[in-house]
Amino acid sequence: MMNEKALFQIGYGLYLVAANENGKDNACIVNTVMQVTQNPIRLLVSVSNQNLTHDMIKNTGKLTVSVLTEKTPFSVYSHFGYQSGKKVDKFEDFEDVTRCANGCYRLNRNSSAYFCGNVCESFALDTHTMFLVEVTDADIVSSQEPVTYDFYQKYVKQPYKPVAKKSGAVKTNADGTNGAGKEGTEEKTNSYVCKICGYVYEGESLPEDYICPICKHGASDFEKL
Ligand SMILES: Cc1cc2nc3c(=O)[nH]c(=O)nc-3n(C[C@H](O)[C@H](O)[C@H](O)COP(=O)(O)O)c2cc1C
Repeated sequence: MMNEKALFQIGYGLYLVAANENGKDNACIVNTVMQVTQNPIRLLVSVSNQNLTHDMIKNTGKLTVSVLTEKTPFSVYSHFGYQSGKKVDKFEDFEDVTRCANGCYRLNRNSSAYFCGNVCESFALDTHTMFLVEVTDADIVSSQEPVTYDFYQKYVKQPYKPVAKKSGAVKTNADGTNGAGKEGTEEKTNSYVCKICGYVYEGESLPEDYICPICKHGASDFEKL
């Protein structure tokens, strides 16, 4: 028996993990942060190998974690969690941040606390690297309630609607439309939602080797809408 829905019963928060390498800033959303020791204070932060933030943390050994709150709007999740710094400069027009002593950004509004730290050990775990981080600096930023993954799923997350090309690759039109074909040529499409992050794939069928472009989970984590 392997009911992966059981994983949704594990409680998580949501965090913005930021890094800085050679003057370039980047950050992504993760749910995988937990405190594991008290003296010294150390956190475990697990990040997908495919994320630019992952490479930057690996190369520099530094990161900051901002705790997201119930008031953090969906736009912050989509800005940092639905696109990669490999393709866009996420901080070009994003000014709601303060640079920490370790050179990485932390959020101002939309966070309740932050942690700066140095990586003391890294564990390569197939798809992810788990960073053991010694906290060097931490503070409360606001009295807002920290968000849980459950709260995000129920009250914050909004549908994300990409368009699937016939080949199975995913494309979103610049004007935000779904790019349906001309009358009479439209193909039958089905929708498959990623149970991990909410990304919606549209196409005739979901390829067996499909990987979610947002959270990098495989086809087994999708369900037909
Ligand atoms: C709600 C939510 C939770 C996520 N959780 C994780 C996570 O725990 N680990 C991870 O590596 N990526 C997670 N992601 C996906 C990354 O934030 C996403 O792939 C991001 O675009 C990577 O950006 P980067 O390439 O600029 O680092 C999550 C995304 C969302 C929206």
